[in-house]
Amino acid sequence: MPEWFENERFWIETYPYMFDAARFAAADEQVRKILKLAGRRRGAVLDLCCGPGRHAVALARRGFRVTGVDRTQFLLNKARQHARKSRAKVEFVHSDMRDFVRPDSFDLALSLFTSFGYFDNKDDDMMVLRNVHASLRRGGVFVMDLAGKEWLAKVFQPTNSTRHPDGSVLIHVHEIFDDWTRIRNEWILLKGDKALRFKFHHTIYSGQELKDRLHQAGFAKVNLYGDFEAHPYGPEAPRLVAVARKS
Ligand SMILES: C[S@@+](CC[C@H](N)C(=O)[O-])C[C@H]1O[C@@H](n2cnc3c(N)ncnc32)[C@H](O)[C@@H]1O
Repeated sequence: MPEWFENERFWIETYPYMFDAARFAAADEQVRKILKLAGRRRGAVLDLCCGPGRHAVALARRGFRVTGVDRTQFLLNKARQHARKSRAKVEFVHSDMRDFVRPDSFDLALSLFTSFGYFDNKDDDMMVLRNVHASLRRGGVFVMDLAGKEWLAKVFQPTNSTRHPDGSVLIHVHEIFDDWTRIRNEWILLKGDKALRFKFHHTIYSGQELKDRLHQAGFAKVNLYGDFEAHPYGPEAPRLVAVARKS
């Protein structure tokens, strides 16, 4: 049975909602804050699950050597176009995040915009963390950005919807399962008289759960924040940002 994220159609149809102009415009400022948080000014960066290359391109334009990894060809093509238009040099690699490992090669690794926890087998998440740890050089930093469980528990609503400038409506249906360890999402996209339906699920991590896993994967020091500006993590924080250092 193919897993949900292998469905190229999901990424094609949801692209205008997931990666709209505002999201692209926000990437450079996010990169500035991430670099400050990680204390990195130069070097080699791994953007794991780089999608359409928002952050990879912004980093390359700041002089970093960037490798973007993603398993969705459609999004990698978008990323290549974005790099070409921006005259940025980025290495894009087509790979599953479970398979990509390049020992002692990067000073900084990124997993941004909830690109973690996708696998039915939770051991696969650990494999990803171990691969990233192995791919970092000594002193390298891994920055992760997810929706945290504490915040989800506070704001959880089983359904909500958004209307978009092209007139389409996106209905989100959410269900928590597996003892509050996973979320199942259904997105129903109403476009004219057409309805498209996509289902996907992922593991949700609390701050402590993510911290424990990063330590288990070998990271020496892990700090948690509620955003890229180093505000504290907690139920009020819309994001769970982990900054993990390899000794
Ligand atoms: C929510 S998007 C985030 C993209 C990008 N980090 C950003 O902030 O724009 C999640 C990304 O993960 C990629 N992805 C999903 N499953 C993957 C897997 N098993 N291996 C590698 N990439 C994967 C998708 O193709 C998509 O680009």
